[in-house]
Amino acid sequence: MDIHTYEKAWLGAALVLIVFFIATVTYGTVGAGVEMIDDSGGTVDPNNLADHERFGDPGVEQVGENEYEVNVIASAFFFRPGSDQRGFDPIRVPANSTVTFYVTSSDVIHGFSIPGTNVNTMVIPGEVAELTVEFDEPETYGLLCNEYCGFDHHNMEGTVEVVPEDQYDGGDGQ
Ligand code: CUA
Repeated sequence: MDIHTYEKAWLGAALVLIVFFIATVTYGTVGAGVEMIDDSGGTVDPNNLADHERFGDPGVEQVGENEYEVNVIASAFFFRPGSDQRGFDPIRVPANSTVTFYVTSSDVIHGFSIPGTNVNTMVIPGEVAELTVEFDEPETYGLLCNEYCGFDHHNMEGTVEVVPEDQYDGGDGQ
């Protein structure tokens, strides 16, 4: 069978494209550092957070010279700590710090997003979302729920204050 030269060229181009598409999908899956939400931060009993070592008394903890852990409970319709509009402390950390957030939900699926940073995760009851971010400069960020969670979802928000190191008085103001 004789295959026309153009036919061969198009077959070759199609093969190259297929390999290219598979490569891009593979890169997007494993190479770009994009992670799916999972239980890498551990699992918890969402009905019994009060007894949990991390979430019994959620807040900011210093764990190293410039390292902090922030334990946050997302509930309809607030973040604790975070939602200063609802009477909770804002999340407050110093600049030049590495902060690991541990976030869980006590009820339904919420989001935990700090626009302007790469912090953006789904928060699933029973699972702990863990993510680490570096805050280099003092700045006040918003904190948003970006998963529809009920009638007041649009008001589920909070504040993350990155304060100058010399003004940092520790934790979440407690
Ligand atoms: Cu919580 Cu939307």
